[in-house]
Amino acid sequence: MDAIVVKGNGPLEGETYASGAKNAALPILASALLAQGEHQFRNVPGLADVHTMLQVLGALGCDSQRLSGKSKNVVQIHVPAPGKVLPEAPYDLVKTMRASVLVLGPLVARYGRARVSMPGGCAIGARPIDQHLKGLKALGAEIELTEGYVEARAKRLKGATITFDLVTVTGTENVLMAAVLAKGRTLIENAAKEPEVEELARVLNKMGARISGAGSDVITVDGVDALHPVDHAIISDRIETGTLLVAAAITGGNVLVRHAVPEHLEAVIQKLRQTGCTVTSEGDGIRLKAPARVQAVDIKTHEHPGFPTDMQAQLMALLTTAQGTSVITENIFENRFMHVAELRRMGADITTDGHTAVVRGGAGLSGAPVMATDLRASASLVLAGLRAEGKTTVSRVYHLDRGYEQLEKKLKGLGANVRRIKER
Ligand code: EPU
Repeated sequence: MDAIVVKGNGPLEGETYASGAKNAALPILASALLAQGEHQFRNVPGLADVHTMLQVLGALGCDSQRLSGKSKNVVQIHVPAPGKVLPEAPYDLVKTMRASVLVLGPLVARYGRARVSMPGGCAIGARPIDQHLKGLKALGAEIELTEGYVEARAKRLKGATITFDLVTVTGTENVLMAAVLAKGRTLIENAAKEPEVEELARVLNKMGARISGAGSDVITVDGVDALHPVDHAIISDRIETGTLLVAAAITGGNVLVRHAVPEHLEAVIQKLRQTGCTVTSEGDGIRLKAPARVQAVDIKTHEHPGFPTDMQAQLMALLTTAQGTSVITENIFENRFMHVAELRRMGADITTDGHTAVVRGGAGLSGAPVMATDLRASASLVLAGLRAEGKTTVSRVYHLDRGYEQLEKKLKGLGANVRRIKER
């Protein structure tokens, strides 16, 4: 298993870039199932989760290839005639990545049947899919849960009004992908407004779908009979961008992250400014210039456009170095403070009570062996290591590899002392 070794090495300086967005790529790759033929997606990040989604598509009968050399971020997918698609996503794949459930909507919409292993809970929470199923049922799918699998069937889905009980990103995406081939109009109310949902709608419209309102909380879909394949370049990863900006902030550095979209990161940029960092748009990127020491700031995670839960752990790492006390409230997932215990092992002064963490800044971080527990937690430990005195070894970095394309190489390019090692 790989580990990442980081040694605090002073301010990061220079230019780096954000890769394609994981959480846009996953639903977009699943959406290929909606149209027979050859799809081409560009700016697809080389991540373990993307690889898993391509394996899921492969198990369903859709071959894919990633081009090589300069075109290594191009993925081509061949979707065969309906009779050649086996609409079953097996447990072995779904258990490695719960976003595999994103094939459920496209399968039932286009193939009339889907059998997808129920994703279990994961480290950050129970993460049920009741809202996905509620939406598909409203569109006329018959749903059965047997032997750990969701079976969905429908001759043809019918448009309906769906009001989600809570805001769910992949739930909105699953139902959106199902509704595009339904007969008639669908209204998705209380929809997720994340940029990745908007991006999925953009791709579906390119395929010939008729969607409006994506990015707001009501999405209208007028069903069509068939869609055609697309060629599309995926938006940049706002969470990777934010993580790289925090790397600059935590080291007192000055870094330009290119291929970044400031509008997708407004809440994060606002908080970083409140800590005393100067954040500006520059060309196709975002520059962060950090003060010698950041100020404490309170954070509450919310659905977009609020502060993203996927940036909570990274900001916590930063705030351990701040002047003053910060209060962080996690509103999206019930168990997303697992980085706290590891940050404490590095000397951070953090206490938690339910959904709230109190971070008393300035205790000084010291390097330690720590263990990654989920994707964003691992990123926060690498960030803390950049600031800590001495050596930090982050184990189980397969979590990091699920969502960051060569993070250590990007950090090294900015002057960080970081390397990947093999651990037994
Ligand atoms: N929820 C339900 N029922 C459902 C669906 C969701 O109770 O049917 C609850 C969840 O348990 C959670 C809340 O609603 O408490 C929000 O979950 P949501 O469905 O929005 O999360 P998700 O779609 O499973 C996506 C991202 C996550 C990100 C969340 C929140 C993808 C592939 N994953 O998950 O990304 O944290 O939205 O923004 O898009 C990550 O990249 O590290 C990551 C975990």
